[in-house]
Amino acid sequence: MRLRPVAPLIFLENKVDTSLAGVAMPKGTSLLLLMRRPATHAGAFDAPEEFRPRRWLDGATGAHEPSANLPFGSGPRICPGRSLALLEMRVALSSIFKAFDVQRVGADVVWERFSFTMEPARLRLRISARGTRGPA
Ligand code: HEM
Repeated sequence: MRLRPVAPLIFLENKVDTSLAGVAMPKGTSLLLLMRRPATHAGAFDAPEEFRPRRWLDGATGAHEPSANLPFGSGPRICPGRSLALLEMRVALSSIFKAFDVQRVGADVVWERFSFTMEPARLRLRISARGTRGPA
């Protein structure tokens, strides 16, 4: 959700005249926020390009600024489906990996494609039923 957010753009419009970093933004300005940039900024996260999920569990060493990572937006219009989405991800991933072996196939460089949400391109997988099932 930090390195490959599916919603990397947020479109906003300010309700009052304001300014940001010295740039005037009159009421009604159309704003396009690039959410990935702060989430991968070295000032916000130690080794920002590394997939290191334990940083969220163990207490991070170095920079760790959760408010720089807002994959569901923030404020009064924060995504109301956030909890459902996080639950669905866990259920989907645990169901898939419990029942199937998933392997990368080929050496294609995987790209990302923006089509309303981000999706992988050229990601080829071989998915086969697991030989043995773990405990229920
Ligand atoms: C990985 C899954 C999802 C991501 C990354 C995501 C992300 C977002 C983001 C970034 C926004 C804009 C927030 C803002 O303007 O500050 C948003 C808005 C919204 N999302 Fe999601 N969302 C996800 C899943 C869902 C689900 C499962 C639902 C409903 C079941 C949902 C319903 C909505 C609605 C209704 C809004 C508009 C809220 C408003 O404008 O007041 N989203 N979402």
